Parts: sequence; structure tokens; C-alpha cells
Amino acid sequence: MTDLSIISPLYPDHSLKLEKTIKLGVLASGKGSNFGTIAQCIKEGKINGQLQVLIYNNPSAGVTHLADEYDVSKVLLNHREYESREDLDRAIVKVLQEYEVDLLVMAGWMRVVTPVLISAFPKRAINIHPSLLPSFKGIHAVEQALSAKVKITGCTVHYVSSEVDSGEIIIQSAVPILPDDTSDSLHQRIQVQEHQIMPMAINIVAKELGF
Ligand code: GRF
Repeated sequence: MTDLSIISPLYPDHSLKLEKTIKLGVLASGKGSNFGTIAQCIKEGKINGQLQVLIYNNPSAGVTHLADEYDVSKVLLNHREYESREDLDRAIVKVLQEYEVDLLVMAGWMRVVTPVLISAFPKRAINIHPSLLPSFKGIHAVEQALSAKVKITGCTVHYVSSEVDSGEIIIQSAVPILPDDTSDSLHQRIQVQEHQIMPMAINIVAKELGF
């Protein structure tokens, strides 16, 4: 049955099968539950894809263990070692090109990206954000929703653009805020929905790219 809380303007029925395998690269700095979801969906045939490389910027990021578990190459690019955001993005683009990445997925990459990266992956870079954009952009989106006392929030996958959390929306899912919610309990329920829409977004964008 269609889940009415999940809406994509591009492919409302979410039932997509790719003809060709898409090569994915992931940027992540956290625990990596979205990375794990992508890896598992590939394993189960729900995404006709191949995880080429994980790029992470935090040496102790939990996501590295998932890369090992799913046998995905991982590359540490520590932003502290680069003089500017552009320098870091140039290094990222080089790695993505070396690994022949077709589609870049930012899944918990807590860095602002520059035109260096965006122009190298036009319509080929997506990001997941824990709010119903355009509400609550930037960091602490879950806390922002709680403070605003909205009754419904959610998550969004969107194309990456030069303004933070502002590119074209690909898919969204709504999550109600319950009276006793803390930022942890709410973020947990938002993440359940993130793991639904992330694979759908990858399939939608891959289809748009001709896969
Ligand atoms: C997610 O909530 C995502 O929306 C935000 O960062 C978090 C990453 O979570 N951009 P995980 O590391 O994938 O579990």
C-alpha cells in the first residue's frame, strides 16, 4: 500500500527498477545508519547499485565499521588538514572521480560544500536532512522543530545546491511530533522515515540520470 506520508513530486508511486547498475559514493561523518540502509538495500536488490567508496572526515566515525562490514572502500579526508572548503572539496572530487562515482549521496556530512563539488556533480549529488524543508535548515533541525512547537516535521532528500539545504526537493516524509518527544525520540522516528526515503530517492535520481 502507498504510504501517504511519503511524497515525491517526480515519481509518486515509488516503484522503480533500474536497468543498469549505478555507482554510488557516500559522504558521511556520523554513525552511518543511512549508509547502512543503502548498503543493505543494494544487498537485497532494492537498489541496483554498487557502493564504490565512503568518504568520511571524522577518524572515529561509526560509519567506518559499516563500510568494513559491507566491504566498501573507505577514504578519510579530514577537513582539519585542508586550508579552505574548496581545497577539501577538490580532494573529495578527485576521490569520487577515481572511484568512477555516478551519484554522490551526502548522508550526515556535516560540512558546507562549495561550487567546486557541486559543479563536478551537477544533478548528481543529493543530501538528506531531518526536517520538512524549507523549514529548519542547517544544524539542529530536530531541536529547531521542537522549539517552534510545530506538530509535524519529517525528513527530506534534495539535490545539493550552493545554498545549504536549499536544492530541489526529491522526496519527503512527514513525522508527527508527540507531546512527550525529546530531540532523541523524535530524531529516532525521523530516522526510521529517512531509511524509507533514502533508497527511494536514489532510485528516483538514478532513473532521471538514465539508469
Ligand atoms: C541524519 O539525520 C541526516 O538527516 C542528517 O544527519 C543524520 C545522519 O545520520 N543529515 P546517520 O549517520 O546516517 O545515522
